[in-house]
Amino acid sequence: MKRDFLDVDDLSVQELRGVLDRAQAMKRTRARENVLEGKTVALIFEKPSLRTRSTLSVATYELGGYGLYLDHNIGLGSREPARDVARNLERWVAAIAARVYRHETLIELRDNARIPVINALSDRAHPLQAIADLMTLEEAFGRLEGLRVAWVGDGNNVLASFAKAAAMVGMEVVAAIPPGYDPPESLPLEIVRDPRAAVVGADAVYTDVWISMGQEAEAERRRADFAGFRVTPELFALAKPTAAFLHCLPAHYGEEVDEAVVNHPRSRVFDQAENRLHAAKAVLRFLLGEG
Ligand code: CP
Ligand code: NVA
Repeated sequence: MKRDFLDVDDLSVQELRGVLDRAQAMKRTRARENVLEGKTVALIFEKPSLRTRSTLSVATYELGGYGLYLDHNIGLGSREPARDVARNLERWVAAIAARVYRHETLIELRDNARIPVINALSDRAHPLQAIADLMTLEEAFGRLEGLRVAWVGDGNNVLASFAKAAAMVGMEVVAAIPPGYDPPESLPLEIVRDPRAAVVGADAVYTDVWISMGQEAEAERRRADFAGFRVTPELFALAKPTAAFLHCLPAHYGEEVDEAVVNHPRSRVFDQAENRLHAAKAVLRFLLGEG
């Protein structure tokens, strides 16, 4: 039976552990296995991307396959229904990775394709990011279980996947979220309103943009509502003296984070970006290779 990766809980705890170990091993050797030899992965992007598009393309190449980039011109759900896009692509390619506005589009692709579908970010989840985040924390601390991560900002897609993945490996997430921006679904995390309360004593501090792709019409209101939720050097200093700083990127300096925090010696944001490649390779290998 085909497997899909719409969010981290499409994997069992044991499978998640296996993907993390595989990603670390592939990083060590910069593995160029031919598990995708002769295979094409469709990379559909309704929204902009640097990291996800690059790492899925390079990952497919390094596994011996070809990444077919398809942008908004295919008209997913507008020029033709997502189910018909699925029923075409499955005749030509081995898997579909898609970045979409609406998570329901991914579900329609998944339910109508006989090939694996990978979430390259939706309004609800960003599971490839969460794999890279856990890899990065494990590199930084030598363990995951028992770490406490403070999230500062929006109850968004990145938080949703991170919180689910964190719970699967025994981590704790405390999220400082302004009223009105809580996650739309129940997640394994504690919500507080004061960023300082979340950050004090944390092993890592994680933030993301105030205005996600697709929310541009709400920009003015969001900037006002998130004004107290910037990770400044002073806020970061309340975390443990060993604490790491995380950001999925792109960063909007002067909004959710000061550039000094991204440039801090304990910032891990470019390690997260680096690990996106190895996370993508491990997920592709899990879905299309030998596990
Ligand atoms: N973090 C992340 O997914 O970056 P992109 O939007 O550039 O892919
Ligand atoms: N929450 C952001 C993440 C970008 C990688 C967005 O959805 O735009």
